[in-house]
Amino acid sequence: MSLPDVVETVAGLQARLDAVRATGASVGFVPTMGYLHEGHASLIDAAVAADDFTVVSIFVNPLQFAPDEDLAEYPRDVEADLARCGDHGADLVFHPSVSEVYPVGAEEPVVVGAVGGPLEGASRPSHFAGVATVVARLFRIMGCCRAYFGEKDFQQMAVVRRMAVELELPVEVVGCPIVREADGLALSSRNVYLEPGERRQAPVLYRALLAGAAAVGNGEADPTVVVEVMEDVMSEAPDLVVDYSALVEPDTFVMPGRITTGAEVRLLVAGRLGRARLVDNVGAVAP
Ligand code: PAF
Repeated sequence: MSLPDVVETVAGLQARLDAVRATGASVGFVPTMGYLHEGHASLIDAAVAADDFTVVSIFVNPLQFAPDEDLAEYPRDVEADLARCGDHGADLVFHPSVSEVYPVGAEEPVVVGAVGGPLEGASRPSHFAGVATVVARLFRIMGCCRAYFGEKDFQQMAVVRRMAVELELPVEVVGCPIVREADGLALSSRNVYLEPGERRQAPVLYRALLAGAAAVGNGEADPTVVVEVMEDVMSEAPDLVVDYSALVEPDTFVMPGRITTGAEVRLLVAGRLGRARLVDNVGAVAP
């Protein structure tokens, strides 16, 4: 295993990228907040497979945490992160300070369109503006590249895609499948907050999504019935505080009046188990 090079400054990163691009190489980019797990590793794998030079950023972005959220305790382990990046073939890690990313202080936030309004946008009102602001800044620093995002944060991916188009940033956003534990729990850095009893209940989110997707697959055309199916399953977990369960059109995040034949929909759930806030989603196609 060889460790990737680490740069901490924008100038250092851009000098490396200029040299790489001068050879005609393509650049892949995996933005992260660190505490990397196999889900992040799958993004690095996708970048390494498709691009000639892969950059991983590790930056816990204060802007996307509300004052009552877990910024201070967000898990961090940079040494383990570098080892994982090296194991998966990343070429360079960008590990900047807050002042390097926001040199003029709190930046004017990027305005998030309608796709960021419901669900996560309603539960965490300032979150997507913080995500879009940092990702826009990172995309500008990176320049032309392919950027790899996990579908676990499906709405985040839609917000970022929209932002890149609206700001005309030369970045192609590539979505990658969710990586799960054997019992279905989607991998997340925040799973570390789960106490053993909560961890045993956590796969209920995925079971709820599978039940909802099965209802769609069996021809249920009323979205509210599908949502009830998911809520019934989630009620099996005594400690789960459900935040939302929803069925939406994947591009607009609007709930359709009816699910029409052949329509692709996205089922999403979020909830709190102890200190952990969990989100998950699956796609479904109506017969
Ligand atoms: O998904 C994440 O880890 C973060 O929201 C991101 C995209 C790295 C922006 O800080």
